Amino acid sequence: KKVVLAYSGGLDTSVILKWLQETYGCEVVTFTADLGQGEELEPARRKAEMLGIKPENIYVDDLREEFVRDFVFPMFRANAVYEGEYLLGTSIARPLIAKRQIEIARETGADAVCHGATGKGNDQVRFELGYYALEPGIKVIAPWREWDLNSRTKLLDFAEKHQIPIAKDNRGEAPFSVDANLLHISAEGKVLEDPWETAPEYVHTRTTAPEDAPDQPTRVTIDFERGDPVAIDGQKLSPADLLAKLNQLAGDNGIGRLDIVENRFVGMKSRGVYETPGGTILLAAHRAMESITLDREAAHLKDELMPRYAKLIYNGFWWAPEREMLQALIDKSQEHVTGQVRLKLYKGNVIVEGRRSPESLYSQEHVTFEEDTVYDQRDAEGFIKLNALRLRLSGRQK
Ligand code: ARG
Ligand code: SIN
Repeated sequence: KKVVLAYSGGLDTSVILKWLQETYGCEVVTFTADLGQGEELEPARRKAEMLGIKPENIYVDDLREEFVRDFVFPMFRANAVYEGEYLLGTSIARPLIAKRQIEIARETGADAVCHGATGKGNDQVRFELGYYALEPGIKVIAPWREWDLNSRTKLLDFAEKHQIPIAKDNRGEAPFSVDANLLHISAEGKVLEDPWETAPEYVHTRTTAPEDAPDQPTRVTIDFERGDPVAIDGQKLSPADLLAKLNQLAGDNGIGRLDIVENRFVGMKSRGVYETPGGTILLAAHRAMESITLDREAAHLKDELMPRYAKLIYNGFWWAPEREMLQALIDKSQEHVTGQVRLKLYKGNVIVEGRRSPESLYSQEHVTFEEDTVYDQRDAEGFIKLNALRLRLSGRQK
């Protein structure tokens, strides 16, 4: 009877809106989130009104701080990277959208939720696992899996028939399938579908090409407290403001581009071109901070678990018990990850230049190549001999 639609205000979700009214004859509530995608949200509100949604059924929420504080930062504590490269910029936003959509369903007494992801991708899984985890009895509508508007032409005809505005110049057709938030922007499809083709320069919207970046490096200091960044060059910033600032610094210096063929959860491979400017700095800085504050075995254990954690997020299991278990372990490891990292940003590179911490485990006294008074080099002899014992026994056997 009532459905909450994740509504971007774009052509596809506007078509979905009309299609819902027509097919299910139900009352539609629209939910548009500001996750820092860099788009005005008021046009989405106006468009929803124009398409006949009652003002009290239009939700437009600024979720930027919550997104960075409760999703991006916890994920970066793990140094999460999928398949060695992808910083999970789309994956990490979906659980928050799902959560807010379910909250709105409760507030408005809706019995169903709806999203605009296709039946071929990861996003449908991420949204729906979120819905079901948070509201087990919810009804899910995924128009792309149900309707027969399976070509661009049919979609545009439907839009025209229902007076859904289509951008004049390109008939509303984006050159790629794009997803954006404060952490990243992704482009897939169209000319990118041939993985041998070089991505055209215009896919990149958040970073200068490294070869066009300034010839002078930019230097920056990041302060961490218990694993999270809190200040840039001594200036305290809120989570969202801090990430926005890092995006600016990285983007100007051509940092954070990725061209990847990844394995989707549903089984196919897909090629994507992503930009994660601020996140790329953050990952390098966080690793540098951990390098002096984490115990070796704690760090190595974290690194072993990281691919598991990244895969959980990629596959949409943010709200699963095993993700929460790993998160507790990761968060525990961050208790002493406090201090400062100095970085040089230069033509696509993030170069760590220095790190310090009041909780540092680094002991110059021990490691020095000069004379020391704390370490007895003779102890190493027995350490090596006992480690060599089984090697010698098996060596003798050969
Ligand atoms: N392939 C990436 C992922 O699975 C990006 C998906 C982008 N989503 C979109 N609706 N354009 O996380
Ligand atoms: C989609 O299928 O809607 C976008 C791509 C993905 O979810 O992986």
